[in-house]
Amino acid sequence: MSFVEYSDAIQDGDVIIVYLSHDSMMPVRVQRGAQTQTRYGAIRHSADLIGKAYGSRVTCSKGGWVHVLHPTPELWTVTLPHRTQILYTPDIATITMMLELKPGSVVCESGTGSGSLSHAILRTIAPTGHLHTVEFHQQRASRAEQEFREHRVEQLVTVRCQDVCRDGFGVTGAADAVFLDIPSPWEAVGHAHTAIKRQGGRACSFSPCIEQVQRTCEALAARGFQDISTLEVLLRVHDVRTVSMATPDFGPDPSADDVGEAPPTPAVNQSVTVKTTTPPREIPGHTGYLTFATKPRC
Ligand SMILES: C[S@@+](CC[C@H](N)C(=O)[O-])C[C@H]1O[C@@H](n2cnc3c(N)ncnc32)[C@H](O)[C@@H]1O
Repeated sequence: MSFVEYSDAIQDGDVIIVYLSHDSMMPVRVQRGAQTQTRYGAIRHSADLIGKAYGSRVTCSKGGWVHVLHPTPELWTVTLPHRTQILYTPDIATITMMLELKPGSVVCESGTGSGSLSHAILRTIAPTGHLHTVEFHQQRASRAEQEFREHRVEQLVTVRCQDVCRDGFGVTGAADAVFLDIPSPWEAVGHAHTAIKRQGGRACSFSPCIEQVQRTCEALAARGFQDISTLEVLLRVHDVRTVSMATPDFGPDPSADDVGEAPPTPAVNQSVTVKTTTPPREIPGHTGYLTFATKPRC
């Protein structure tokens, strides 16, 4: 198992996702001889997990069952232990696309936080790219390093415990893209410029407040970044409902008169069951603004 490569069967040491229901999942590190308690009873790692195919249904000790899933960055984002606020899939998808990340890309990121974005970047840039992630909180940096090892992606990532605004990314002229999720991104814009290749590259900053966005845009422009644009990703989830609708009665068919046939009897009081979707009236959940910019060739 690795977060960037699929395996068929569960092995000792794997991190798996135990799926109880759509809104109840948990990551579990498989250890020979260990047990994990769920509301359906215990799962015995040696007997119930090791050697089983990913995606299997596993019966717990109280008779209920769960599915055991291969980990993905998307599942990790919704199950990871939070140390900080994290980025979620709608923002992550936009960031990955707009930064033009692909296998082989070299990316700088700060802060690492809980590693939600980091895992998505790693899957995108594998197998030949590299992520340089900077986090000044010692415990968060260590925990992220430990998780990268447990998820078998450590060869793709370097974690640096330092202040990105003061000390930068530890990278000069090598990055294809830089991502910032820190309270004062404008203070790191110069280091982002230094980190990106001479041939140019992309930068993105995530900030919850528009005042932060303004200061970041000013710093980006002052450093010669171009194509500066800010967007906000809002997820619009549609409710699906089954409704009963009366069959419309359009009256007799006028073309039938021409050939002298009796008009068909109109349908009376008939109804049909259909599925409809309703968009929400309000969209809660502002997460933040994403500011993108391009460093031109220099
Ligand atoms: C909101 S979290 C990042 C969450 C991350 N994007 C994720 O998806 O899990 C912000 C992190 O930046 C770190 N941070 C803030 N300022 C920093 C700085 N100047 N240098 C390095 N890390 C910094 C904080 O310690 C925190 O862990």
